[in-house]
Amino acid sequence: MQVHTTIASLRAARAHAGRVAFVPTMGNLHDGHIALVREAARHADTVIASIFVNRLQFGPREDFDKYPRTFEADREKLAAAGVAHLFAPTEAAMYPQPQSYHVDPDPGQASILEGACRPGHFRGVATVVLKLFNIVEPEAALFGKKDYQQFMVLRNMARELALPIEIIAGETVRAADGLALSSRNGYLTASERAEAPRLYRQLAAIAAAVRQGARDHAGLEAAAIAELERHGWRPDYLSVRRRADLQAPRQPDETLVVLAAARLGTTRLIDNIEI
Ligand code: PAF
Repeated sequence: MQVHTTIASLRAARAHAGRVAFVPTMGNLHDGHIALVREAARHADTVIASIFVNRLQFGPREDFDKYPRTFEADREKLAAAGVAHLFAPTEAAMYPQPQSYHVDPDPGQASILEGACRPGHFRGVATVVLKLFNIVEPEAALFGKKDYQQFMVLRNMARELALPIEIIAGETVRAADGLALSSRNGYLTASERAEAPRLYRQLAAIAAAVRQGARDHAGLEAAAIAELERHGWRPDYLSVRRRADLQAPRQPDETLVVLAAARLGTTRLIDNIEI
């Protein structure tokens, strides 16, 4: 695997790479990322991954500075998984001058749920992803469903801006006890880690109830929030939405997803289950 720290070096290698599938990451890789790499290989001649902790998508009081940076371990995992080229730019290479042009996603999609709790987050995500797309020029790009709203925003960005890139979703990878794998799980203390799967269990219980015909979404959501709070969580949201645009469901036949974000101690976890 070749590691490229400059845009010029990555572009020179990409020119000979054939059909490319791209897996953008912020590093601190877990099995969820590796599953995306393996899926990527099914869609292309060459898999290119990136590692870049993108300052633009973190709020001023968020964890940009303490976000785990584990480059050597990440490099080994990506090489073992068959990545041909790793783009790992320095901040100076990605943002040689402050980024003054941005992608503003539709506020109806980007200012709800995660966007309501993290103002400007999806603007930062969409801006860096479009920039990475312009550097890598992939035919396909893969994003995990754990960040469900991120996937939706990026898929819609690709559609609306007519990007010639297939946006592919990867399933959420979970630990044996149900906790969705996430780089932020590393912030949890041992007792928080034992508590953390409750978020998944609450979502799974709602998904099961709705599949069996329960229609009182508000009642199910309130009961799950109360149960989390009883166990020391501080939920930001827990909500049944329609998959297509993450708005409140209106028709009985819509396909749904239940999404949540909640803090356990100082760690903010998100998860979702398609219903
Ligand atoms: O999902 C992530 O890790 C990031 O949001 C992404 C897509 C790499 C953009 O920085």
